Amino acid sequence: MGTGMTGRWSGRRALVTGASSGVGLEIARALAAGSAHVILPVRDRSRGDAAMRSIRESVPDASLEVRDLDLADFASVAALGKRLRAEGAPIELYVMNAGIILLGDGERHVTVDGHELHLQTNFLGHAALTRELMPLLCAGRARVAVQLSLAAARGRLDDLECKRRYSAWRAYAGSKRALGLWGAELARRSAAEGWGLNVNLCHPGVAPDTGIAVGVRRRPKGGETGGRAQLARRLGSTPAQAAEPALMALASDAGIGKFYVPGGTFGMSGAPRERALFRALRDADAARRMWEFAEMALTRGLAG
Ligand SMILES: NC(=O)c1ccc[n+]([C@@H]2O[C@H](COP(=O)([O-])OP(=O)(O)OC[C@H]3O[C@@H](n4cnc5c(N)ncnc54)[C@H](OP(=O)(O)O)[C@@H]3O)[C@@H](O)[C@H]2O)c1
Repeated sequence: MGTGMTGRWSGRRALVTGASSGVGLEIARALAAGSAHVILPVRDRSRGDAAMRSIRESVPDASLEVRDLDLADFASVAALGKRLRAEGAPIELYVMNAGIILLGDGERHVTVDGHELHLQTNFLGHAALTRELMPLLCAGRARVAVQLSLAAARGRLDDLECKRRYSAWRAYAGSKRALGLWGAELARRSAAEGWGLNVNLCHPGVAPDTGIAVGVRRRPKGGETGGRAQLARRLGSTPAQAAEPALMALASDAGIGKFYVPGGTFGMSGAPRERALFRALRDADAARRMWEFAEMALTRGLAG
């Protein structure tokens, strides 16, 4: 589809979260193949270095750098933001891709900032990072991709911190719907207030061979050969294919709520295409409230 062609992103500075493995690694590889300079912010330097080595196996002259980032810790997010702002180089491509789903772990985990772990990693950490990077994103008139999930269509918003009832799936789906609403509001605010960002939403479908998909591969009942695991394997994508909707989101001119997904069966795999935003993400009032919810959490968290 041409989004990873040599020179496509020549001279652009990119930042991809969750680029140490899976779909994010392939997004970073495609951007590097397109001659972007790619920043890989990671929570584990050795995994970041391994990701750079992997990218250089297929793109020997890739321009890459690893930085430290733990999205589940606002102080870490603020430290990265401060460092990058001090350096002053604009960011022109930005992918909010990192995510977790702790299937098989029935315990609710809370971050150092007091939020449920999925909510902060998948959503609030990205909202915080965006706020920290905003001067650089505006200076770069950044193309922004917000990585959601099929689960964003079904997440509940009434108990995002999962204080009343916890399951990893519930926490994950809620965090992805929250990220989607917030992403739609980011697009709307940028257009209304002239921030100059090109914000599109996307999801990768199902990529059964990534770190996050352990739960898809090993359901408690049925294991690797269980019906759901087999269906995922048959209909799912490789990480490189699953990276394509995000690459299309970056390459496409934004409209408010433009959404890029795999075009095949149930949106699990296939060539990327644009589709209507999930109904669960269309409510402009809910999107504004989600933005305000994040602002309140960040004002408390980043000040603390
Ligand atoms: N695979 C699928 O079937 C599927 C389906 C729907 C949506 N998605 C979405 O696609 C995105 C990529 O997932 P994936 O499938 O590529 O899974 P993955 O291989 O597990 O990648 C997740 C990435 O997020 C990073 N990450 C996790 N917690 C972090 C934190 N606190 N701070 C910074 N980085 C953190 C991980 O870093 P480490 O290397 O340190 O763990 C890793 O690089 C996620 O947003 C996920 O929700 C995936």
